[in-house]
Amino acid sequence: MENYLIEVAHLILRYFHVIAGIAWIGASFYFAWLDNSLQTPPKEKSEKGVSGDLWAIHGGGFYEVAKYKNGPEQMPTTLHWFKWEAYTTWITGILLFSLLYYIGADANLLDASKSELSKVSAITTSLGSIAVGYIVYRFLCNSPLVSKGYLFTTTIIALLTLWTWGLDHLFSDKAVYIHIGALIGTCMAGNVYHIIMPGQRYLVAEVEAGRIPDPAVGLKAKLCSIHNNYATLPIIFIMLSNHFSHTYTHQYGWLVLIALIVIGMWIRHYFNLKHRHINKPSILVSGIAAFFALMLAIAPWSSFEPRTNTVQVTNQQAWTIIEKHCSECHSATPTSAMFTSAPLGFVLDSIEDVQKQSEKTYTRAVINKDMPLANLTNMTEEERDTLAIWIEDYRAAKNK
Ligand code: HEC
Repeated sequence: MENYLIEVAHLILRYFHVIAGIAWIGASFYFAWLDNSLQTPPKEKSEKGVSGDLWAIHGGGFYEVAKYKNGPEQMPTTLHWFKWEAYTTWITGILLFSLLYYIGADANLLDASKSELSKVSAITTSLGSIAVGYIVYRFLCNSPLVSKGYLFTTTIIALLTLWTWGLDHLFSDKAVYIHIGALIGTCMAGNVYHIIMPGQRYLVAEVEAGRIPDPAVGLKAKLCSIHNNYATLPIIFIMLSNHFSHTYTHQYGWLVLIALIVIGMWIRHYFNLKHRHINKPSILVSGIAAFFALMLAIAPWSSFEPRTNTVQVTNQQAWTIIEKHCSECHSATPTSAMFTSAPLGFVLDSIEDVQKQSEKTYTRAVINKDMPLANLTNMTEEERDTLAIWIEDYRAAKNK
């Protein structure tokens, strides 16, 4: 019962997190595009204080957007703020994260092969890493470094690399990725809460008082919003990373993540320039090339070569291993206290099931080795080798 409730809570939180995230990132894309696409307004508009002019057509209607240099003469009665997208994404994200990695710490956070952290110290370290990471980011944003684009970016990447590497010594591979996602997401939501919203409240107050706002405040908020924009592609990858165990289970999974973050930012850069009518296809092409180079570099090359096994492994031997190490979760009726149904519907209830799913089984139990989950059933290297031989021979026989 308890586990079923957790499953339902998981569904609700993940669903809301993704919906809110789409709304937030969608708004971020839209406003970045909007700002970069504004044109010099005609005279009658600039006389009213409009500095950027834009026309669009969408969903069967014309839209006229005007960006004011300082603010409108009179505050409109309704002003849209775009903040709840950010807050809802962060709140649901932290709840989802806590559900999976704190309540489910044994399965998802801890990794006995990396550290002996107890559950409580792992959770404390995890929370601490996010809080300290955010404080460091805020500090850098308040330092003169923030105005030096490339230097600031390099510093952030260097620190993020250090962070990822450090976390990789403490937590499970999958958790490392999500921690960096949680940190980036916290910085993004923190930008909204600590900088962008106060900045906007100041703008509104000044305009209402009939004063001309200090442009520095608006520029600072703009800069944070640009940071958020560059973080979008990396964070979307991290949100999806759970599905791609070949990335996080790689021996240098932490470095793979950093490479993917840099590539994501680089590709985002291409689009940001393009919106400003600076077309640099070399950025896009090199970003895509770097992505494929990375995929080639982390491919499990040795597993692609056909192997000739001298030892024979019988179906019975293979089944004994599966039954001992996989069946408690991957069964139509799991006996594991953690699951009420087979994770991802992946069922291994008979040797025929294993044969049908042999490639997936091979990938996760032999190459990536992230199954059994957190190695909760203590599968040994010898058992993985034995299973490998059985699957390789089955594959060879099938391909004959
Ligand atoms: C303690 C529970 C548990 C055990 C034991 C376990 N798994 Fe899993 N398995 C999971 C969970 C949870 C997922 C989904 C999360 C993920 O993919 O990382 C999963 C996902 C998978 C997937 C991905 C299925 C798909 O359709 O993408 C494969 C393959 C897999 N496991 C194979 C195995 C094999 C082989 C074993 C035994 C050697 C095993 N698992 C043991 C919990 C377990």
